[in-house]
Amino acid sequence: MVRELPAGLVVRHPNSDDQQRVLAVMDAWWMGSPGDAGSLRRLLLLPRLFFQHFTASSYLVEHEDGRLAAFLIGFLSQSHPEVAYIHVVGVDPSLRRRGVGAGLYHRFFQLAATRGCSRVQCITSPGNAASTAFHTGIGFQIEPGDLVINGVAVQRDHEGPGLHRVAFTRTLTNQTSPVRPPVIIRDVRVCFLGDSFTAGVGDPTHLGWVGRLAARAENRGLHLTAYNLGIRMDTSAEIRARWKHECLLRLPEASEARLVLSFGVNDMTQDGQGLRVPPDRSVANLTALLAEALPVLPVLMVGPPPSGDPGRDERVAALNEQYAGVCAANDVPYVNVFAALQEQPSWQQGIADGDGAHPAAAGYEQLTNLVFDPWWRWLEDFDAGLSGSVVARWALRATV
Ligand SMILES: CC(C)(COP(=O)(O)OP(=O)(O)OC[C@H]1O[C@@H](n2cnc3c(N)ncnc32)[C@H](O)[C@@H]1OP(=O)(O)O)[C@@H](O)C(=O)NCCC(=O)NCCS
Repeated sequence: MVRELPAGLVVRHPNSDDQQRVLAVMDAWWMGSPGDAGSLRRLLLLPRLFFQHFTASSYLVEHEDGRLAAFLIGFLSQSHPEVAYIHVVGVDPSLRRRGVGAGLYHRFFQLAATRGCSRVQCITSPGNAASTAFHTGIGFQIEPGDLVINGVAVQRDHEGPGLHRVAFTRTLTNQTSPVRPPVIIRDVRVCFLGDSFTAGVGDPTHLGWVGRLAARAENRGLHLTAYNLGIRMDTSAEIRARWKHECLLRLPEASEARLVLSFGVNDMTQDGQGLRVPPDRSVANLTALLAEALPVLPVLMVGPPPSGDPGRDERVAALNEQYAGVCAANDVPYVNVFAALQEQPSWQQGIADGDGAHPAAAGYEQLTNLVFDPWWRWLEDFDAGLSGSVVARWALRATV
């Protein structure tokens, strides 16, 4: 099954501004005519709520110039936790049979598997031979029906009187097992040291970006131990003071030990007497922490995100650049997420709908999307985690 989208296409999650753009292509993409009964039925398939409340499990593909190329609207079942459901999918006719539909399904399968689903379901009209060929072509089974139309089992009145449908199911284990990488026997332990964003505050799934990273690693066959050491309100000063005690206890001799840092927003917060930690002290704290940690552990840093307060965001954006410079000078990979999240509607919407500072699940999903690839590349450097620094790590541990 094709996994990657063709070059030049960009995929993202949709938002409510995309609804009209999607509705505008449906007649052309489904080979219908505006105003006919089928056209109205198609429009009614995608009310606005799908672009408001199902965005984290849906995808939109655009050409580099922004033209719509494809979309997939899907969700995880509220009633059957093992089931994920694809409601509507469409690909620009000029891009068909190039793996775009399969690539979108593959993304959805990965998301669903990460969330613990074991099955994906969807339906199509009996007359839609291309859709039936597509679904069976990528491993869906046709469910039993009580009618046969054009040789295909169909469920009578599935959507209402006269609205018969072909129902498909695909187990995710079938999809993942042949291609799933073998389990990698590595005792990887990663401490994620940071603040409330590291702790995943605001995320009703309680996964945050740390839980999502670990779940995606699991899906790739790496059983790592992820220690979430996020503390609400912590500044760089507190994190610098606690890192040795907290982390070294959790990183025993034989393990492949690693440290991920993420902080800065609380430093740039006013506490009535000025900033909680001024930028020069904040930078000094990071520099000092790296000087202690790098001789004994590989470190990666995720930069501070925007948090909905314009003044603080301006200060965090500047600190983010300084942190990036410190990390570059120390050869520490730095995942700069600030600008991308600032422009991300799901991040901003989560803050607005939540406590005014933290995103919700969709925002953490976006943050995970930004962090995963560089983090995974860093993890792939197996030797770095098992470096000869173990002795030094134990000597340092004896001092805490
Ligand atoms: C159905 C649809 C989404 C498929 O998208 P696509 O990007 O063209 O599909 P892919 O290129 O990923 O196809 C993957 C496999 O499915 C099968 N397949 C897809 N379209 C097919 C067709 N028209 N005829 C036969 N097999 C087909 C093939 O096995 C194909 O692999 P191959 O090209 O290597 O042989 C697209 O045709 C579409 O948008 N149709 C209109 C909207 C629609 O009907 N949506 C589904 C119901 S909501």
